[in-house]
Amino acid sequence: MSIVVESVSKLFVRRGREVVALDELSLNIETGEFVAFVGPSGCGKSTLLNMIAGILEPTSGSIEHDGRVVSGPNRAVGYMTQADGLLPWRSAEDNVMLPLILRGVGKAEARRRSDELLSTVNLSTFARHFPNELSGGMRKRVALAQVLAYDPGTLLMDEPFGALDAQLKLVMQNELLEIWERTKKTVVFVTHDLAEAIALADRVIVFTGRPGRVKLEETITLPRPRDVFKDRFTAGFQQTYERIWQALEPEIKKGEAL
Ligand SMILES: Nc1ncnc2c1ncn2[C@@H]1O[C@H](COP(=O)(O)OP(=O)(O)OP(=O)(O)O)[C@@H](O)[C@H]1O
Ligand SMILES: [Mg+2]
Repeated sequence: MSIVVESVSKLFVRRGREVVALDELSLNIETGEFVAFVGPSGCGKSTLLNMIAGILEPTSGSIEHDGRVVSGPNRAVGYMTQADGLLPWRSAEDNVMLPLILRGVGKAEARRRSDELLSTVNLSTFARHFPNELSGGMRKRVALAQVLAYDPGTLLMDEPFGALDAQLKLVMQNELLEIWERTKKTVVFVTHDLAEAIALADRVIVFTGRPGRVKLEETITLPRPRDVFKDRFTAGFQQTYERIWQALEPEIKKGEAL
């Protein structure tokens, strides 16, 4: 599903103090495209995801998703926030079933779909485990299965693998790419890790420091299917990294100076 962000600004007012999080930001994301957002902390990346998900409203400008203006919670997106939001008293399987049950899917069908999804994310053996009995990577897999459960056309992912160790991160990136290549969902992926952004995305969008604007849009021409374990050692990858880093580095340094 496509996303059109048209001149969006977001102003927060808190205890009389104004913060301009985003300033007249425009961008287009095509159906089936995998786009990564990178930018310094506080530049409005999560705010923009919240607006695409319809949880927050722009102060000015508009956002269209799948040809419709977003106003109110957008049920056509699956939103994987940084905190996984799994309910500790429900097993992995019951957590994945929850969004389906809330949408009126019968219990037997919800269980069938949940088992299928847990198998997609390689977690079948742990279906009956509770979140506190799972590793960090497994919890992320459950959260991913949960957002895939109602088959949204668009996935919004806010630093989904940020807390994972380097190896596990690569494993999860690989699994996500396999799922994306099979389902061709639109993905908006926020990360602080530029190598991760390049390894996964069709296009990397660099934000300026707050107020967030688009500083650079770089199309990633690495061939697909990709190999997240090996691509980063290629010359093409490293040149791309350096080019994008030149745009990103000063924005991050400005933030440090504040
Ligand atoms: N609900 C809110 N009320 C007031 N200010 C907010 C709110 N949400 C975000 N902000 C402010 O908007 C700015 C952008 O925040 P946002 O969370 O979008 O940044 P970010 O780019 O996701 O940062 P990070 O990379 O650290 O996650 C920050 O200055 C933040 O304090
Ligand atoms: Mg954020």
